[in-house]
Amino acid sequence: MTRLKKLEESFVLPTYAKFPFALARGRGTYVWDEAGNRYLDLYGGHAVCLLGHCPPEVVAAISEQAKRLLFYSNLVYSRVRAQAAKALVRLCDIAGSQVFFCNSGAEANEGAMRLARLATGRARILATTGSFHGRTAAALAATGIDSYKKPAHGLARDVSHVPFGDLAAAQAALGPDVAGFILEPIQSIAGIVAPPAGYLSGLARLCRRHGTMLIFDEVQTGLGRLGAPTAAQAFDVEPDILTFAKALGSGVPCAAVLAGPRAAARIKSGDLGSTFGGGPLACAAILATLEILTQRRLWRNAARMEALARRTLVFPALREIRGKGLLLGLVLDKPSQEVRDGLLRRRILVGSSQDPRVIRLLPPLTVTAKELALLRGALSDIWEARPAKGASNP
Ligand SMILES: Cc1ncc(COP(=O)(O)O)c(C=O)c1O
Repeated sequence: MTRLKKLEESFVLPTYAKFPFALARGRGTYVWDEAGNRYLDLYGGHAVCLLGHCPPEVVAAISEQAKRLLFYSNLVYSRVRAQAAKALVRLCDIAGSQVFFCNSGAEANEGAMRLARLATGRARILATTGSFHGRTAAALAATGIDSYKKPAHGLARDVSHVPFGDLAAAQAALGPDVAGFILEPIQSIAGIVAPPAGYLSGLARLCRRHGTMLIFDEVQTGLGRLGAPTAAQAFDVEPDILTFAKALGSGVPCAAVLAGPRAAARIKSGDLGSTFGGGPLACAAILATLEILTQRRLWRNAARMEALARRTLVFPALREIRGKGLLLGLVLDKPSQEVRDGLLRRRILVGSSQDPRVIRLLPPLTVTAKELALLRGALSDIWEARPAKGASNP
């Protein structure tokens, strides 16, 4: 590991904090490091591995597609692209919606804001404090966490922020110049912050009244994670635009903007574009991912596992479990670093957040009761100061 660490650090810019190991392979909810140690991945490769690691159906679909046609651009029609778009439209269940494919969450959010501006002919975007929308210029401008914005200069103008969850503030800020209101339905990186009851539906009503496009950034909440196919469905709200990335292709880089009829109405050739977006390999991964998700209705397991987590993860040091489905924040009574380190020693991967007290759980939707019991056992060992013995190893 020391030699690999040195090699990577010599040639890759040091822009990420890292776990102290290199992974060699993954299967289901588990990954193995180069030394052969097995880890239980409750971080889901950063909310990407929705169906678990290396889901066989997705691996087969991309292998087949790679042999047939690895790439051609959007200048040609593509059966797999059309089918992937249809599968996403069906899953989101917004009548008359259409898809634009791109490559990352930030790019999808850029596209969504552009769509809102094109659809309304207005310039201004509203966003919420505590949100994260990506690191490209406009996505970063919409991000409401200062630490991400500090290193960047020359951020896009025409974006202002209102407090998340504050309907009166949204009402005061909306006006005839506002093209779009972008937000994460549940703020993930902020530390799993859920909206107060009625906030999202109230926001939808306000946006409609002002002719403003409501944009749900579903890069983390989407595709079954909240116990319904989308956060929009979980909260029974119909936004004008939804963005997806991370889990969409089970790890093959891809993203999508789903435009409802109001947002799609005025779009014409040249308004949005991307060389790689909607390429056949990515679309094969998207189609296979959405087929498995839909056939197995995996969002129901997300709801079941949330209920189980709430019932069984009960400890004096655990103040609260925030979030919904399998986007959960364990709020501790003090900074969570020590507990995260303890879990890592027991070979269980979890996430941190902007809130130092919060441990984020973003496991594959296929996670089982047995795997949650491993987490419970490890937490109980940590809090009762029992030594680590590699809890997730067979
Ligand atoms: C809610 C949300 N939006 C957008 C992004 C940006 O996605 P990407 O890193 O694919 O550009 C992220 C990434 O973590 C995210 O969590």
